[in-house]
Amino acid sequence: MSNEMERAIERLRTTKSLLVITGAGISAESGIPTFRGDDGLWQNYRAEELATPWAFERDPVTVWKWYDWRRGIIGKAEPNPGHHAIKRLEEMFPGLFLITQNVDGLHGRTGIKNIIEIHGNLWRVRCSRDGRTSMLMDVPLKSIPPRCECGELLRPDVVWFGESILSDVLQMSYNAMSLCDTLMVVGTSGVVYPVASFPENVKGNGGFVIEVNLEPTPITNVADVSLFGKSGDILPAIVEGIVRQQAKN
Ligand code: OAD
Repeated sequence: MSNEMERAIERLRTTKSLLVITGAGISAESGIPTFRGDDGLWQNYRAEELATPWAFERDPVTVWKWYDWRRGIIGKAEPNPGHHAIKRLEEMFPGLFLITQNVDGLHGRTGIKNIIEIHGNLWRVRCSRDGRTSMLMDVPLKSIPPRCECGELLRPDVVWFGESILSDVLQMSYNAMSLCDTLMVVGTSGVVYPVASFPENVKGNGGFVIEVNLEPTPITNVADVSLFGKSGDILPAIVEGIVRQQAKN
């Protein structure tokens, strides 16, 4: 076991309140392209060009087709050992909170309870007029994008660039952040706010930050421990390390 891994496990042994934040990297091993990775382009569009209210206003069909493409991949995907390890961590740390930036719904499929999908969920749709949400599977798909009963276009119930996160979702996230003594940040490039600011805030409150990523990110400068590799390998190894520690004591 590496020194960094030992330090992470040692910290977790005394952690009272654990907050986990995840990004697209945790779902990469389920076969879902990340946003900023080499496979993140769709028909030469970057996520930032399509995931905006302006793109939807200008060309709703293209934006909807992009989400259909992502839903097609995600629909066949399964939670991977990284997702399952976080569910195991929830059993070990009963107050654990998970904030995910992912809209793929894979964490939810592990049965995890305390989860905030801070950027929404692409299996839900929302009326562009009155904001009412429903599950996509309950909506008759007569056109692309489908329309609400009121006649207005339905859009994915996700947060786009330039949009605000719902205030109660944001409040819950900030509460979880201020309560935690250890933050584990997994598979995010750490460039999209507000999540990008959480590691520094947790450090400012005297907390400890563990990063899990394939490569260094802006979070690495702030993190107390950085574990480089696949989250599907590292997170189960952390769980096993904690189990071994507990068996010793
Ligand atoms: P990114 O695509 O920006 O970053 C993915 C991160 O995961 C990178 O730092 C990779 O190095 C890392 N990574 C890839 N595979 C990994 C693996 N197997 N194990 C561990 N790490 C791995 O995705 P996010 O940071 O999630 O927002 O992006 C943040 C937000 O920007 C998204 O929620 C989305 C996006 O545009 C909206 O749509 C509003």
